[in-house]
Amino acid sequence: MWGGRFAEGPSAVMREINASIPFDKRMWRQDLAGSQAHVAMLGKQGIIPLEDAQAISAGLHRVAEGFEADGVPVDLALEDIHMLAESRLADGIGPSAGRLHTARSRNDQVATDFRLWVRDAIDQADAALAALVDALLGRADEHADSVMPGFTHLQVAQPVTLGHHLMAYVEMFTRDRSRLRDARARLNLCPLGSAALAGTGFPIDRGATAAALGFDGPTRNSLDSVSDRDFAIEYLTSATQCSLHLSRLAEEFVIWASQPFGFVALSDQWSTGSSIMPQKRNPDAAELVRGHSGRIAGSLVSLMMTMKGLPLAYSKDMQDDKPPVFEAHDLLGLSIAAMTGMVESATFRLERMRAAAEAGFSTATDLADWLVREGGIPFREAHHITGRAVAEAERQGIRLDQLDIGALKAIDDRIDDRVYDVLSVDASVASRTSFGGTAPVRVREAIAAARAVREEE
Ligand code: ARG
Repeated sequence: MWGGRFAEGPSAVMREINASIPFDKRMWRQDLAGSQAHVAMLGKQGIIPLEDAQAISAGLHRVAEGFEADGVPVDLALEDIHMLAESRLADGIGPSAGRLHTARSRNDQVATDFRLWVRDAIDQADAALAALVDALLGRADEHADSVMPGFTHLQVAQPVTLGHHLMAYVEMFTRDRSRLRDARARLNLCPLGSAALAGTGFPIDRGATAAALGFDGPTRNSLDSVSDRDFAIEYLTSATQCSLHLSRLAEEFVIWASQPFGFVALSDQWSTGSSIMPQKRNPDAAELVRGHSGRIAGSLVSLMMTMKGLPLAYSKDMQDDKPPVFEAHDLLGLSIAAMTGMVESATFRLERMRAAAEAGFSTATDLADWLVREGGIPFREAHHITGRAVAEAERQGIRLDQLDIGALKAIDDRIDDRVYDVLSVDASVASRTSFGGTAPVRVREAIAAARAVREEE
């Protein structure tokens, strides 16, 4: 299609390094949609004869049917999806196919196709995350009162509820959804009509093609339009952030499923066995979600490095924009679906969680707070007294709430019987009623609020 000034064809390696069809064939729907919008506009504006526009449009439909039925063939000689689609069109309708590329370049064409593709990717990720959020809300609701240890430094810190812990991830994935939507809003302008880089002298209607493709309007600067891949980088940034959250949740499942923790039993559907150790139930899916996050982050770095030194406008380096985006999309989709399945089907072992919360002196802060509240003791002093109570319980090999009153009074005689009301893990979580705290009443409010947001969508 560009051979007019060349006497010889490309070398085999040139052909191979140049071709993007092996991967950009994934954009065939977007490419044909872009061409339909373009040709309708060309016909309407009288830039090409109306009969040709109609023949091209019908021909493009047949190309789509062919790709749908038989897949997109990979022919390196045709370089990319844009050339392949046009050559298929020419096979179908003859020389009038050559009018389609009027007032257009592959540079604005690929920028348009890719925006359409990333827009769909964003919508798919957003919908998948909504399903994950719903799964988390369901399990959080079930476990709004279930006590587990909360950790800092992976050391037992204070009791929390499992519902509260799961709701922390609802917050994260809700922010991820919001970031994806922000990226979508900025992405949604149409570069088509920027032509190669400078615009065109044909009387095109960029507003019409933008509207036909569901964009909010045309992009404003033709040079920027064909050079900009911010939209893809922003998508990858959001995808990477989301994958970091998925990886943290996956890591918690890995830890919780280990025998020393035993907080969760993954369902058979989300476990794998070992070929040598018959007792094993491995959390492979969770481990792969954790691993995939590294590859998704790598795809972001890959595209940033492609773009960082490019002069305006289009350079062929930019063809390398698609593989990292496609890979991130595939890995993210799998990761979200896998975590959703694991969350939905996991069996939480509540007795183990409760025992771990009770074993770690997790109500020590409650004792210190009680001394402040009831004894008027400064917090630093209360902290010291409580530390001695913990040491005494540890010496006796018992929990804080099993220390008898004599032992407590020996440490500080301002302590009285009422202290036992705050030393149980249930009393501890019930007392954390500050906004955003782990008290079951607050957790239920948080679930209701998140559900209300989901219902409004
Ligand atoms: N296959 C190319 C890409 O993905 C299409 C644009 C080619 N433009 C050009 N001037 N060679 O970037």
